[in-house]
Amino acid sequence: MTMSFLQEIAKRRTFGIISHPDAGKTTLTEKLLLFGGAIQEAGAVKSNKIKKGATSDFMEIERQRGISVATSVLAFIYKDKKINILDTPGHKDFAEDTFRTLTAVDSVIVVIDVAKGVEEQTEKLVEVCRMRNIPMIVFINKLDREGKDAFDLLDEVEQKLKLTVTPLSFPIGMGYDFKGIYNIWEKNINLFTGDSRKDIEDTIAFDDVANPELDKIVGEKAANKLREELELVTEIYPQFDRDTYLKGDLQPVFFGSALNNFGVRELLDCFIEIAPQPRSKESDTRLVKPEEDKFSGFVFKIHANMDPKHRDRLAFIKIVSGVFERNKPYLHVRNNKNLKFSSPNAFFAEKKEVVDISYPGDIVGLHDTGNFKIGDTLTEGELMNFKGIPSFSPEHFRYINNADPLKAKQLEKGIDQLMDEGVAQLFTLEMNGRKVIGTVGALQYEVIQYRLEHEYGAKCSYENFPAHKACWVKPDDAKNDEYAEFKRVKQKFLGKDKYGQLVFLADSEFSIQMTQQKYPSVKLFFTSDFHSN
Ligand code: G4P
Repeated sequence: MTMSFLQEIAKRRTFGIISHPDAGKTTLTEKLLLFGGAIQEAGAVKSNKIKKGATSDFMEIERQRGISVATSVLAFIYKDKKINILDTPGHKDFAEDTFRTLTAVDSVIVVIDVAKGVEEQTEKLVEVCRMRNIPMIVFINKLDREGKDAFDLLDEVEQKLKLTVTPLSFPIGMGYDFKGIYNIWEKNINLFTGDSRKDIEDTIAFDDVANPELDKIVGEKAANKLREELELVTEIYPQFDRDTYLKGDLQPVFFGSALNNFGVRELLDCFIEIAPQPRSKESDTRLVKPEEDKFSGFVFKIHANMDPKHRDRLAFIKIVSGVFERNKPYLHVRNNKNLKFSSPNAFFAEKKEVVDISYPGDIVGLHDTGNFKIGDTLTEGELMNFKGIPSFSPEHFRYINNADPLKAKQLEKGIDQLMDEGVAQLFTLEMNGRKVIGTVGALQYEVIQYRLEHEYGAKCSYENFPAHKACWVKPDDAKNDEYAEFKRVKQKFLGKDKYGQLVFLADSEFSIQMTQQKYPSVKLFFTSDFHSN
């Protein structure tokens, strides 16, 4: 283990930005890249949002897929730190993608719109981060607009997101009266110059707000208000403590305006100081540490080639330990097969390039001809699998039928590969072998149909399947009569998932409850990683 290897690890910050659509994730990402010098002008990062009403616009879907490859990982160097931003789609129909990406981040920044407060998608994503104790920093955006009172908003964040917050900056006024921000972390004041609130900022070191100079700078009224508010902040909120933040028990909050580039540098400067370097990860056999000399990593995302003539795919690997080297054979644990990669891609801003060596925290994109599934582990020979990429129960279910009998093979292959990519989940009914596709959002059905046709030359049609939730089934005793009875009575609703695990496709919440009461020894789970429960 060389010193420079440890230094490479210590340099890396791999994180995701999560928010409800429109809160300002794309704008913030772009401003961060500008600071890193990775892009030269605003507007260079394309929004990967699905535009409203685009449900049937397939050009739009294809365009999004193109952009989402480009923005999957945005890397840049800032103050000698290698920053990897992993893109997380905000659209709720792609929530599952985001959940999976969150297994590859070491920390997150949560963006909240000052006027809208905590929104639905933020709640869901933060819950996942909270369950995994991922360190979070909150950025309250759009301070140039009229919004909620800062204390009310902090309350809302605590209540709705179940977080323990502590502000590291505090706004001086808001909306029309927005004058700037007091940076509690750095002890200075950031001022908007002029009254346009759009101009370049001024930073004034200011370690004691009692200083009468403050009245001169922001006016007596605003100065007094800030003093009172900061006093309240000290009374109400715990003092920032890095270890507590790293454990996921305390979330620092920054205020700013991404669009006006206000408070963004402050956020980034604090982030690189406090955010964790690549963290250890649990596998099914042991805890794997980044500084171990043997390479290990896992697949958290698979992207099909946009060009239908080239059927290869790009599998995104998060490196957990050791160094990843080009042309070195690694064990693909699930298939027990050695694989070599002659052109692994690394990501830099919006470019990909072939790299010889990558370190823990980095993401490499590997060309794949169909070997990988999401969640797969690569090692230097050790038989272990990383944990924590569960499938969640889908919310929509439909039979998928072959609409072109001559293309049955193509359909089969297409479905298989799209499921490997994690576009949706497939269940094969026990009774008659019919296939049911489960998705998080209705949009996926159109994506699947379109891609089957354009990439695989297969046609499909859908038919409603009256399920409400998929429950993974685990009997206490696979041989008892109760389990046999359960399987007999529920046979119409039983299927196997892609890994051959038994799933009960319940048609209502009521039916789940009744089943649990009637067959207490047959346990039902709502995610596929029940093995670890
Ligand atoms: P998202 O990725 O989270 O979905 O949000 P995005 O950055 O695309 O921002 C959503 C909208 O909010 C954009 O306006 C963006 O310009 C605006 N915005 C972001 N940060 C701020 C801010 O600090 N202040 C104000 N006032 N607005 C902000 P849009 O009109 O929807 O798009 P565009 O046409 O400006 O790109």
